[in-house]
Formats: sequence, structure tokens, C-alpha cells
Amino acid sequence: MTISAPVGAAPQSGSTTKRSFGKTPDGQAVDLYVLTNKNSAEASITTYGGALVSLKIPDRNGKLADIVLGYDNVDGYVADKSYFGALVGRYGNRIGHAQFVLDGKTYTLAKNNGENSLHGGVKGFNKALWTAKTVSAKGGQSLELSYVSKDGEEGFPGNLNVTVIYTLTDGNALQIEYSATTDKKTVVNLTNHAYFNLAGQGSGDILGHLMVINADKFNPVDAGLIPTGELRDVAGTPFDFRKPTAIGARIDQADEQLKLGGGYDHNFVLRMPKDHGESLAARVVEPTSGRVMEVWTTEPGIQFYTGNFLDGKSIGKGGATYPKRSAFCLETQHFPDSPNQPKFPSVVLNPGERYHTITKYAFSVEK
Ligand code: BGC
Repeated sequence: MTISAPVGAAPQSGSTTKRSFGKTPDGQAVDLYVLTNKNSAEASITTYGGALVSLKIPDRNGKLADIVLGYDNVDGYVADKSYFGALVGRYGNRIGHAQFVLDGKTYTLAKNNGENSLHGGVKGFNKALWTAKTVSAKGGQSLELSYVSKDGEEGFPGNLNVTVIYTLTDGNALQIEYSATTDKKTVVNLTNHAYFNLAGQGSGDILGHLMVINADKFNPVDAGLIPTGELRDVAGTPFDFRKPTAIGARIDQADEQLKLGGGYDHNFVLRMPKDHGESLAARVVEPTSGRVMEVWTTEPGIQFYTGNFLDGKSIGKGGATYPKRSAFCLETQHFPDSPNQPKFPSVVLNPGERYHTITKYAFSVEK
């Protein structure tokens, strides 16, 4: 979308600034980078966990609001168990029984979610300190983050060199580009765990947001939220978001899968274009503010999570609290438990190959 500068106003140029965000418990300095585009939209990213700390986007009247959940300083992120805004890896989502086999060798991970491994383990990429540098971008502001995950870290094989580039475009999109290389065969599934509330963080529940997910099928799960392996048709189920539907319209229905998730907490199988370019995965409209978010991605799946485990106990930005279902996540990814599901698209990365995915959250307004 194009936003023209107000008549008479000088066109603004974007900027990127850096400030301290505090220190890790072991005394390392943590920074916050603030990317501002030509329209004054703003994305703040911290080197701790590479987390998206805030995202200020205009509503239909041009009024900015911060539309992601987060904390005011690094201490919140150190204590966080919800992955607010974080970069998630080495394996985003769950791996069943916290183990997988590669070339006949069994790799054992920490069971940090019941019997399973979740989001990379006890100290995933969300708890790592990333190295940041600003990079030039055409039509926006970019920040490059990098992290080297050592061979054996959290049980995963291979030294993994990871680079993530966040770009806030002048067209009000936040693009996240993920790259990785390894020196040993490994598994990789990177994502961002932003919790969105398009009416503004801390402003209540997200049940009235209208959701479209471009998926004909989803992954039903077991009690540990591990996919059963079936790709189930969404038709005739509360998982059919092919037409705009309020998130809350069916969330409390007596549906076995909704009960297992405590709401939506499922991977949707995206309709992929044949050229494997970016496809429109989801479109969300928040009727009161008019804010619209489209999610474009090269990934085959998207985890739609409705903040069912949020409990309102942690204190967020500006003193906000975040009760159950006060935000939703749309985590672009390969399917959960892929290392143990030979029929799912592969998450294996070999030496000499480059893992490369792009996800874009594009914002506009509806009048
Ligand atoms: C998972 C949820 C989990 C949340 C926070 C989501 O990706 O699907 O089950 O509670 O992350 O860890």
C-alpha cells in the first residue's frame, strides 16, 4: 500500500537507531534497534533472542499503535516462557518424544514440553544473544542478526550459522529473511513467534479479528500436540478459515481438536504456488481499527495459535497484562515433528546447502 505524505509536510526519511536494552544475567550488554520507515511505522528488535519487541502500525485514521506483545526491557525476555516476538530455533514447534534419527543415529533433545521438545529446547535461539548490524535496504530499513549454534547445542548435530534479516519496508511490511548453513547434516525450522493484537497490545482479546488462512488441510494432533500424521480436510470443521471468519466464532465448540489445543494451536497446510515463491498464507482484519495484516511466506505451513496458554500473570510493555487469547500467533514454518514424519516436507539441511526462507507481514487498512 502507498501512503502519501500529508500536503505541505516535508517527506520523511527512514532511520535506524540503537539504544541499550539492559544486560543479560551474566552481564552482557543487550541492544534495542529501532527501525522507522518513511511513514513513521516502527519496528523495535532486541539482540536478546532476536525478538521483535514492538511494531507500531497505523490504523485507518493514521494513528499508530503497538500491535505485538512484549516487555519493556531485557529482564522480561530473560524470564519469558511465552516466546514473545522471539526468533525460534533450531527447531520451531514440537519434536515428538524429544528425539529423532538421522542416518541411523538417534539424537536426544531435552523434554521441555511434557514428553516432547518445544521450540529448540531449554535454551533455544530465543535465549541467545545475537550479533546485530544494520544493512542498507532499498525502500526500507534492515537489521541483520546472526548467531552460531554450536555442534551439539541442545542436542542438535552440526555447527549452524544462522542469519536473519528484518526489514521494515516503506510500504509498511515487516519482512523476515532466514538463512542457515551447517557443517553436518542437521534439521532446521526457524520462525518468529510474534503475538499480534491488531487493535493494540494490551487492549483485550483477539476473538473479533477476522481470519483467513489459505489452507485446505491442517495437522490434527494428539494430547501432546504432536501431529498424528494425517492431513485432515478443514471443510466442515472449525478449522475452515478459507473465508473471513471471526477467530472466536467457533473457538469454544465441542470439537476434539479444539479441546486438545485449548483453542487453536495447530499447523495449517498452506496452498503453495508451484514456483515455490512466497504465497499468501493468511489475512487478518481487525474491524474496529481497520488494520489488516497479510502473511506471505515461502514456508509450507503456519501454526495458528490463539494464546490459549497466556495467563495474564507476566507484566508486559507499559504495565500491560496479557490474559488468555489476548493475542494470536501465525508462525510460518515446516510442519511440527517433521524429523519423525517421513511424509512431511523435509527439514533436513546438508553441508553445502543453504536454508533460506522468507516471511512477510504486510500491513494496510480497510475503511
Ligand atoms: C505453540 C504453543 C505454545 C506456544 C508458546 C506455540 O508455537 O504451538 O503450544 O504454548 O508456542 O510456547
